Amino acid sequence: MHTTVPHPVETDAGSDAGPGLGSLAGWGIRRAVRLAFPGPACLALDEEHAARLDTYLTDLLQPYGLALGPGALAPRGQSYGEMAEALIELAVPAGEHVDLLVMAYAIPDITPGRATTTYLSHVCPGGPLAFAISDQGTAAGFTGLRLVREYARGSGMRRALLIVVEQAWLAYDPGVPAAVPAGHTGVAVLLGDAHPDEHVGQLGPVRVRAGALDSSPGAEIEEFGETRAVILGAALKREAAALSAKSEVILASPGRPTTGVWWELAAALQARAKKPEAGAGCGRIVMADADLDLGFLCTAAIDVRAPVRGAEPGSRVSDSPLLCLDDYRSAAQEQVTPDVWDFIDGGAETERTVAANRAAFGRVTLRPRALVDTEVCDTRTAVLGSPVATPLAVAPTAYHRLVHPEGEVATARGAGAAEALYTVSIFASRTLEDIAAATTAPLWLQVYWLRQRDALSALIDRAAAAGYRALVLTVDLARMGRRWRDMRNNFAVAPDCTAVNLDAALMASAHAHGAGGTSALAVHTAQAIDPSVTWSDLAWLRSRSDLPVVLKGILTAEDARLAVENGADAVIVSNHGGRQLDGAVPSLLALPEVAAAVGGACPVLFDGGVRGGGDAFAALALGAKAVFLGRPVLWGLAVGGASGVAGVLDLATEELAHTMALAGRPALDVIDGSALRFDERTEP
Ligand SMILES: Cc1cc2nc3c(=O)[nH]c(=O)nc-3n(C[C@H](O)[C@H](O)[C@H](O)COP(=O)(O)O)c2cc1C
Repeated sequence: MHTTVPHPVETDAGSDAGPGLGSLAGWGIRRAVRLAFPGPACLALDEEHAARLDTYLTDLLQPYGLALGPGALAPRGQSYGEMAEALIELAVPAGEHVDLLVMAYAIPDITPGRATTTYLSHVCPGGPLAFAISDQGTAAGFTGLRLVREYARGSGMRRALLIVVEQAWLAYDPGVPAAVPAGHTGVAVLLGDAHPDEHVGQLGPVRVRAGALDSSPGAEIEEFGETRAVILGAALKREAAALSAKSEVILASPGRPTTGVWWELAAALQARAKKPEAGAGCGRIVMADADLDLGFLCTAAIDVRAPVRGAEPGSRVSDSPLLCLDDYRSAAQEQVTPDVWDFIDGGAETERTVAANRAAFGRVTLRPRALVDTEVCDTRTAVLGSPVATPLAVAPTAYHRLVHPEGEVATARGAGAAEALYTVSIFASRTLEDIAAATTAPLWLQVYWLRQRDALSALIDRAAAAGYRALVLTVDLARMGRRWRDMRNNFAVAPDCTAVNLDAALMASAHAHGAGGTSALAVHTAQAIDPSVTWSDLAWLRSRSDLPVVLKGILTAEDARLAVENGADAVIVSNHGGRQLDGAVPSLLALPEVAAAVGGACPVLFDGGVRGGGDAFAALALGAKAVFLGRPVLWGLAVGGASGVAGVLDLATEELAHTMALAGRPALDVIDGSALRFDERTEP
């Protein structure tokens, strides 16, 4: 198959414009859509074209260390209009806007129609809409970038969207003057290096000059001849680097940016993202491309993002209110790198258990009682003797410093503010002692059964000494789930985020990028965690300390009974948030079975797919004593550190109280099975 894959562009060693482009380390694809161009019916987008496009894009992205996720290319669009719309949606998600939109046309005689300009103006309501026109795709991108820079200079602009409409294969006819859309500002900028005194970045009407020799914009570019590409490469990098220190620039093109220009810019933006002190903004490229052999009948738009580590932790781009946990989710995604997002958000294999955890809550309908005094809805309770203000608790999740520099210390402060229970992961990135010192929240320690029992022993002793009140043994991780997203990302935990409570040598493999298609965490799990433990080993754990032992990952009546027989002080109904056994029963469906089998012998706790107080209410009604939040706490942490964690817990608790009031169940002990109907059929 014929492909036209641009090769990674070499950058000048020592240049401050950006690193080499062997890989866009830390960058990742956030979303991708397949776009269909209009064309003759016989060439309509079909499965064969779609498959070829997949292959083409995979080849295109692979040299840069970027990979498309499974099913990434969701089909979208059957016309140019829809294609443009999809592109803009990718670049500027609903609810967001940009301060400046620049359309850069690579076709000198193009005139954007009224429909285009009207539509585009929605993206930057009240903001300037500008057009840059040049004769060649790369030049158009450069021109547009210069325009963005001019606006950024002196203005408070934070975000600009540059769309390059590139049709570089069209022959330029210097006799045709560039047309400027009426009512809009346009600019033509000439390329600088060969003409150092050239006045670049000028705003105002395009200087339309007749004829090639009289220097129409295109003609002047043509005069640079062979040197053009060199000029563009160096100049673009400088432009991008200068700009990205001030603003977030989103680059988008529905054309074929195979010139390498996108990667040049990516490098400059990446350099910026590596300098946390440099201020706001992240790099993002919405790139579209197509296989020439497909005749441009279908193409794809891909949202490629740089890490946003440079952004101040917890600084949100959007100031829309956080009304539900899903709002935290959207805001959190903006704060973390794509691979970290995949690590948090993802599950095992097809992720059907992740989805089923959520879907199970859709099977619940509530049976509200009327004329009940709900003046006070009391969410206070006690879990294994520890009083808390809410039955909502923080589930153990590893490596909090991946999403916030203060890591688990911030989480602990947030849990303390919400007076909620916090179970600290064995893979915490702050010490057990620092976490304990930061909070008044009751703390439990979650452990995996390490092959090195000495290390496990030592950890248990430290936890007891630091005031942790229970041990949670997670029993669903005999080996790590095949988390395709992590495997595709070749995920490894960043070296500056370590599981500090364990020996560095024991943890080393969690940080080592392996061969393509492997997750370092899976490799580490196989090395460090003992899959041979059985029920009889629990006696050892119980003998090691006086702390209560909680078993996390119980999904069946059989195991619930064994847990009780083997002295568990509580069980947590959990499928690890769908991250382990793909196809495992959704947590909520397992809850009634486990609660019945335990029969009150010990508390039954719950996690999996809880995304609000209403979900927590359902789990409580089905027999849970407390309900843990996994991902939502990480969202809160990413969005606002300690206050984000408290925000998530308080919001979910407030929602729970709200549901209690409207359901006529103002106390936790009256939330029972009669409060709901639950359709437990496994088929929809
Ligand atoms: C990023 C991430 C890391 C996790 N790390 C751990 C861990 O170290 N130990 C553990 O027992 N469970 C871990 N879990 C599973 C959670 O404790 C919990 O079971 C799950 O997240 C609950 O589902 P939810 O995210 O839908 O609320 C992790 C989950 C996520 C999302």
